[in-house]
Amino acid sequence: MTAQTIPVDPFELIVFGGTGDLSYRKLLPALFQRDRAGQIVGPSRIIAVSRRAMSDEAFKQAAREAIERYVPAAERDAAGVDHFIDRLGYVAVDGAGEDGWDELKAKLGNADAFIRVFYLAVNPELFGPICQGIQRHRLNTRQSRVVIEKPIGKDLKTAQAVNDAVGAVFDEHDIYRIDHYLGKETVQNLMALRFANALFEPLWNSAHIDHVQITVAEDIGVEGRAGYYDTAGALRDMVQNHILQLLCLVAMEPPTSMDADAVRDEKLKVLKALVPIDMSNVERLTVRGQYAAGASAGGAVNAYAQEIGNGSRTETFVSLKAEIANWRWAGVPFYLRTGKRLASRVSEIVVAFEPIPHSIFGVDAGSVAANRLVIRLQPDEGVKLWIMIKDPGPGGMRLRHVPLDMSFAQAFGGRNPDAYERLLMDVVRGNPTLFMRRDEVDAAWRWVDPILDAWRNKGDAPKPYTSGTWGPSASVALIERDGRTWYEDVA
Ligand code: BG6
Repeated sequence: MTAQTIPVDPFELIVFGGTGDLSYRKLLPALFQRDRAGQIVGPSRIIAVSRRAMSDEAFKQAAREAIERYVPAAERDAAGVDHFIDRLGYVAVDGAGEDGWDELKAKLGNADAFIRVFYLAVNPELFGPICQGIQRHRLNTRQSRVVIEKPIGKDLKTAQAVNDAVGAVFDEHDIYRIDHYLGKETVQNLMALRFANALFEPLWNSAHIDHVQITVAEDIGVEGRAGYYDTAGALRDMVQNHILQLLCLVAMEPPTSMDADAVRDEKLKVLKALVPIDMSNVERLTVRGQYAAGASAGGAVNAYAQEIGNGSRTETFVSLKAEIANWRWAGVPFYLRTGKRLASRVSEIVVAFEPIPHSIFGVDAGSVAANRLVIRLQPDEGVKLWIMIKDPGPGGMRLRHVPLDMSFAQAFGGRNPDAYERLLMDVVRGNPTLFMRRDEVDAAWRWVDPILDAWRNKGDAPKPYTSGTWGPSASVALIERDGRTWYEDVA
């Protein structure tokens, strides 16, 4: 995709958990791409921190291997990689103790010359101790910010404890809570689609929209993250953050500007307007599933319970019918679903418009299907607007449902930048628009907690589904009871 590159001011990025999976797989490749694009300039540096002793040279070698592994060969050359590796350094620090902080301080440059970003790619239990260490050793400067990754708590109470601990050291406007979905090109495009076109907004309400579907489906299982995932489950892992953020972008009122608080104020109102799901309606409005053996991502796979080996009742799939109690959306269901080991990897938002009020065409013309706007987030990013047309040719009036189809790859070509590239540069720039504010995280948990409680109180096991399918049949029933159906692209 074409992108304009505006260099950011010189920075020092200190990555706690710098030798972990996220750092090697996402952060370093993203920073490399930004360096290669000329966005990182001057003496900016990236300093990896973790507990184990390691020389600068050993870390640089590991980083080089990560770049070679995770950045396609066509997107790197030896000189570019060397240039990036020169920006790297390593310090061993015990985040929860005293060791290594003085060495880290000595390694950092002149505090006033650089923006200082602390990235906490570590277990959330360490967020508090690391922030205290930063404060105790006077490492935060006027230009400091901290970035934290999910999971931010496992319910409202624990999320508040995490946010209190970080908030005791950093001001809210210097805390960047990453939801990497907000950095995806197509997710940002949702805002362009809604607010840079006059076409959709007048129709964007319950008078013209029948329902909305949001699907984030994965074909992979829990990979190497079973330890974390089994304590989380699909509702906490995907719905509390990514899917609710997507729902907010679809449903929010037009913000007055792209200013961070203008956007986040509107998202917050949506979260607060979600109709509660609790013991009284959880059975009707939610389905939780767990993958059984089957075939997925090209091969035979085992059941989740077998992989975990503890008779786990954690859900690997969830579908929900959510409603937003406000003037714009009253009576418009938002069907949400996400899961692991599903039929394919696809994330999309479907806005299903109301049918026409009256057809002037006879039965021979065929049925008149309702318009649909399909925003494909990944893969094959693009937008399809399904409309009715006349089937070309003589022989009377026959109607056909076809998509006006805009594929980003075809329209713009080029590389689709990873979400972390955008988000990391936004942190350096000090632009928190695409990051979650504390009250958003709290509001999301306030809606999710009663669902978790209701499931716990009911005590039944998640419904099994064969790996490689679209989840338990109850998920189909959830939407079909309402006379609707999950969207499948048949074009
Ligand atoms: C993460 C979840 O936040 O998002 C993972 O913890 C999930 O379980 C991942 O696989 C999906 O991200 P993406 O960008 O691959 O859709």
